[in-house]
Amino acid sequence: MTDSKETLFEKYLSPLFQHVLLDQNALMAYYRGKDWEAESDRLRNPTIQYPDYYESQNFHGIKGGYLNLQAALTYDAVTQYFLPPNEAWVRQDLLRHIRCQPRRIVDLGCGTGSTTLLLKQAFPDAEVIGIDLSPYMLVAAADKAQAAQLDIRWIHGNAEQVPFPDNSVDLVTASLLFHETPLAATQAILKEALRLLCSGGEMLVLDGSQSTLRNTLWLTQIFEEPYIQDYAAGSLDAWMGAAGFGDIRTEPVWMLHQVTRGLKPLSYQRIQFETPTIAAEWVPG
Ligand SMILES: C[S@@+](CC[C@H](N)C(=O)[O-])C[C@H]1O[C@@H](n2cnc3c(N)ncnc32)[C@H](O)[C@@H]1O
Repeated sequence: MTDSKETLFEKYLSPLFQHVLLDQNALMAYYRGKDWEAESDRLRNPTIQYPDYYESQNFHGIKGGYLNLQAALTYDAVTQYFLPPNEAWVRQDLLRHIRCQPRRIVDLGCGTGSTTLLLKQAFPDAEVIGIDLSPYMLVAAADKAQAAQLDIRWIHGNAEQVPFPDNSVDLVTASLLFHETPLAATQAILKEALRLLCSGGEMLVLDGSQSTLRNTLWLTQIFEEPYIQDYAAGSLDAWMGAAGFGDIRTEPVWMLHQVTRGLKPLSYQRIQFETPTIAAEWVPG
């Protein structure tokens, strides 16, 4: 692992964010305004075992990644700059691809819930669940849902093992998750999504455009993203196909991002037709 002090992110982007782009006063006020440990303890599942990739890496120049409170505090303020031309438009693009009328939606790696909230606003009658490994990110998500008066369930959990039965979800989403997971975890999460979905259920993934990232390797080196180069080199279509999804299609979103949609194939039953018995007295007319 590269020492974070040597990364371009640490050298150039971090000071830019700290001194220019982030409203430090607002962040401090948010930090001081609550007892983060007590609130994260309320959401924390003490039985969670964090995957190695999650605990051992820094993300975006933050030591300890999402298990560091600083990640949750700064995530929304930073992310708005990484989803050009406009974060709201990019996130809405995921919603634009939804074809079903879901009754239950699970948002995997929901983070601070920016996409999860949009899903609940678009489908107010649906049960909406956000699941994430970081209790701090979930505290921020719960704050946003409360402020927007949206009833969303937040689960501290691993997207590789979601505590719902098979075939119990109509729509599974994952936004900005897979550029941060190693391939083995991506494959396990996609298989888990397929297990959760009802037949014909939809999976929608919003993330960086793999083809654009492949052609702009310098971009992948700026951000402290330990798995983004493997993400860029791969194909979400192929990964979803390998997990068992059908009707997979990726569409570009503002050139820098992509939305991939796949369906859980309809389960089929082999139908045994009876051989018609022709009455002996039947004579063609
Ligand atoms: C870049 S953030 C994306 C957050 C949010 N979906 C969004 O669109 O802004 C990635 C999130 O995935 C979470 N994450 C990473 N691996 C996970 C896993 N195996 N299970 C659940 N959450 C995971 C991280 O904690 C982090 O909150």
